[in-house]
Amino acid sequence: LTVPVITIDGPTASGKGTVAHRVAKHLGFHYLDSGALYRLTALSAAQQGISLEDEAALADLARVLPCQFVKGHVLLDGEDVTDAVRAEEIGVAASKLAVLPKVRQALFDLQVAFRFAPGLVADGRDMGTVIFPDALQKVYLTASVEARAGRRYKQLKEKGISATMEDLVKDLAERDARDIARTAAPLKPAPGAVILDTSELTVDESVHAVLALYADAV
Ligand code: C5P
Repeated sequence: LTVPVITIDGPTASGKGTVAHRVAKHLGFHYLDSGALYRLTALSAAQQGISLEDEAALADLARVLPCQFVKGHVLLDGEDVTDAVRAEEIGVAASKLAVLPKVRQALFDLQVAFRFAPGLVADGRDMGTVIFPDALQKVYLTASVEARAGRRYKQLKEKGISATMEDLVKDLAERDARDIARTAAPLKPAPGAVILDTSELTVDESVHAVLALYADAV
């Protein structure tokens, strides 16, 4: 019996993480935040002074990433790095090392291992295209760059971190461009994915839309 998977891919700050987490909770499924693995690799590389151009060293790091996910907390080598991995500069570094095929290959088994009963909701850029091509329901979650920058702005402000809309729009656009243009697992809707534009939707509405798609698929 195959374990059901729902994949939620999409651009930066499209709300994938929040929606995927809520859908998983509702269904009692496991949750994979694949972006966290790229972020953890970036953080670990920064701590160890490994260059973002050293593909072999980064792949070695990713292959044995000493990470744990415990109750919404992310641990690296036993240390709680939940906030550190969310930092904007770590996201940018993650998107730079995510273009490297050897790094992506090194993280493959780790991601597939998240698939166990009763089911999995996986969010990222290539969940439906590369990691779980046989997913029961594939969703491509998107929103306008303005809507996404606005949401990120609000999140940062709540954390007391200052940012300007102008910088955020620029950062998001650059990161999207890198994710879309790369040759290794570029960001694009998977074959059979349903495209859900959340620019005008609340989180609740987005969660309900994904749950409705899944209910139709099973
Ligand atoms: O989703 P999040 O912003 O946490 O991901 C950080 C970066 O990791 C993305 O900008 C993207 O370049 C990369 N990533 C990826 N494939 C995934 C998840 C994330 O390339 N499945």
